[in-house]
Amino acid sequence: MHDSRETFVNHAFVAGYPVRHSRSPLIHTHWLKTLGLQGSYSTREVPPALFSDFMTLLRLGQSGFIGGNVTIPHKEAVIACVDDADALSREIGAANTVWLEEGRLKATNTDGLGFAANLDERAPGWEKAETAIVLGAGGASRAVIQAVRDRGVRTIHVVNRTLPRAQELSHRFGRARVIPHGMEALPELLPDASLFINTTSLGMDGAAVPDFDFTNMPSGAIVTDIVYVPLVTPILAQAKAQGYTIVDGLGMLLHQAAPGFQKWFGQKPIVDETLRKLVIGDMAAHA
Ligand code: ATR
Repeated sequence: MHDSRETFVNHAFVAGYPVRHSRSPLIHTHWLKTLGLQGSYSTREVPPALFSDFMTLLRLGQSGFIGGNVTIPHKEAVIACVDDADALSREIGAANTVWLEEGRLKATNTDGLGFAANLDERAPGWEKAETAIVLGAGGASRAVIQAVRDRGVRTIHVVNRTLPRAQELSHRFGRARVIPHGMEALPELLPDASLFINTTSLGMDGAAVPDFDFTNMPSGAIVTDIVYVPLVTPILAQAKAQGYTIVDGLGMLLHQAAPGFQKWFGQKPIVDETLRKLVIGDMAAHA
């Protein structure tokens, strides 16, 4: 008897410039394999001048891809290249995940979900903090501020070396709850905060970091970093030595990948210790 079922094999990408260091192919290929799915996930090195053409082909269904991830430097430009950017990505002003759905190209930003899911896993109850400090006001802090606000933390102090950037984020995410400060405000803000989040590049790749004194934070406070190379950043090491709960940033990378996988390949993937060890092994191999 003729079997009329068709087998769809979907293909997804990560587009960036440069993109060769991306760990996303490792993550998605692991999920494809463990779920026994056909399909592929590959890197596409797309220079800024060609990004709009790349997205047009995708949108017209002529690229061979069902969707993909978009990374630096295209996360902001992608918003104008899709039919529907959702409310999360429009508020942030950047998207990281796109997919074709009923002939329309859609976009969202999963960084905030990834950030929150990592804390849910490693520090359950984190969202009960009444006051949080977000260090940094660059691109990466936006999704974090949105997620922390949307999970109900009442007051979010955004502390940044360049005050106007913190002020811009206060306007963007709501001046009643998101309060901008320069770095000098940090010591007086710490005693009231039970959640501290580093979103700056401080400590990335082992660079030296000024001393942070977390000892004025309430006991039981959580300190987390979205940088995951090294896994225990200097900021996390300081907080740990001072007795605080720390959460590294690797889980954010793993969890932000899951919603895209589900859109492209139709199954919910699992973030587990095996995946975490796989990525840690890859980081060690390329250190
Ligand atoms: P990303 O998109 O990764 O967040 P970014 O937009 O360049 O990158 O932002 C980097 C963040 O790290 C900013 O908040 C930056 O502070 P400024 O806005 O003052 O530049 C912060 N940052 C980087 N190096 C820093 C340093 N040595 N001291 C303090 N903050 C630093």
